[in-house]
Amino acid sequence: MKILVIGKGGREHALAHACSKSALCDRLYMAPGNPGMAKLGTCVDISDGDVEGLVSFAKEKMIDLTIVGPEATLSKGVVDAFQKEGLKIFGPTKAATQVESSKDFAKKIMAKYHIPTASYQTFDRYEDAVAYVKEKGAPIVIKEDGLKAGKGVTVAQKISEALEALEVAFSQPGNKVVIEECLVGFEFSLICLVHNDQVVPLEIAQDHKCVNDGDTGPNTGGMGSYSPVKKITKEIIQNTMDTVMVPMAKAMMSEGVPFTGFLYGGLMLTKQGVKVIEFNARFGDPEAEVILPRLQSDFVQAILDVMDNKEVSLTWSDKVSHGVVMASTNYPASSTKGSLIEGVDQSDALIYHMGTKEEDGKLMTDGGRVLMVVTLEDTLEEAFAHTYREVKKIHCKDLFYRHDIGKKDM
Ligand code: AMP
Ligand code: GLY
Repeated sequence: MKILVIGKGGREHALAHACSKSALCDRLYMAPGNPGMAKLGTCVDISDGDVEGLVSFAKEKMIDLTIVGPEATLSKGVVDAFQKEGLKIFGPTKAATQVESSKDFAKKIMAKYHIPTASYQTFDRYEDAVAYVKEKGAPIVIKEDGLKAGKGVTVAQKISEALEALEVAFSQPGNKVVIEECLVGFEFSLICLVHNDQVVPLEIAQDHKCVNDGDTGPNTGGMGSYSPVKKITKEIIQNTMDTVMVPMAKAMMSEGVPFTGFLYGGLMLTKQGVKVIEFNARFGDPEAEVILPRLQSDFVQAILDVMDNKEVSLTWSDKVSHGVVMASTNYPASSTKGSLIEGVDQSDALIYHMGTKEEDGKLMTDGGRVLMVVTLEDTLEEAFAHTYREVKKIHCKDLFYRHDIGKKDM
């Protein structure tokens, strides 16, 4: 088969890596891909936002299956455009992508179908939002509506922080803000392969959203992850399937917006059971980089089977995978580009490229999150030690990382 992976980050590198291992994959194309992905197949110079360009390429090359990485591409209606041309693509339509792109849309469905989540209210007037925050008190969570790459969320411990976040959120006209009850508990990500009411769980992972050690500092797209997560038992996962993931897929069908693709549950195990923090309409990043390396069965076959409503059987390595993101100085506020990276070839870890470019044969930083270093070992403790040994082999004056990925589960 000819397979196309759309995107250029670490998640797409992991998706492409999983496709490249499939017995079904004869040719692998990536648009636009990155220097790490270029080792797996052919990178084509089409932006992941260029829906028309992607459709033309898929038609010309007669691509058999396209897998979409980024939410922004889904939000532009890439799936609708491919389907219109009769091209097979794994991802949600523009309408179904709203499960991620509009918190308000997701929250309304969860309320209607009794899917457990934080209580919330949506505001389009600054004054009303301020009054609500003052009435509810802190801690409280302020979320800008729309796609924010994980960065439009403030978990405010004090009222003053919440009010500051509201000022920022309402500084742009037309913004809507969701204000939520603050959930307290243990966070994990459960990603499922979904086609209508077929919902197949993958192994779970835990992301680390805050930029600094000890879960401090602003939220990022994710600074590291590991899989599996000891604290989340098989029973908890089954319960999450029964109360959250399957009901959500069914609810979307009932609402006339059936979902196909990776449905990502961002979840919190609270004292009252598992509750939804958010849904995403695509694989997680940095979850893909630790989940997919543990998959032993054929990834492409699994996607084809779920789309054909066939039974999907997945087998997983018992090893623990652990990954640390190396990010540009000042991320998430801003990113440094064009700094030389050395030592990647010296490492025996899996190295996923998140934001890199090659210039004159040299590897350079090119984004906020730059590389993710992943190792697999028998225990989390061993993987933790191994990953950090490998991270130290990579040298770049403009990269930093967290030192405590996975510590809470050790
Ligand atoms: P989101 O973009 O909705 O995933 O939010 C980013 C991060 O903020 C989450 O991964 C959580 O760590 C935190 N967060 C979001 N909503 C809540 C909530 N209602 N209660 C506690 N933490 C939250
Ligand atoms: N790791 C969080 C996300 O992909 O949204």
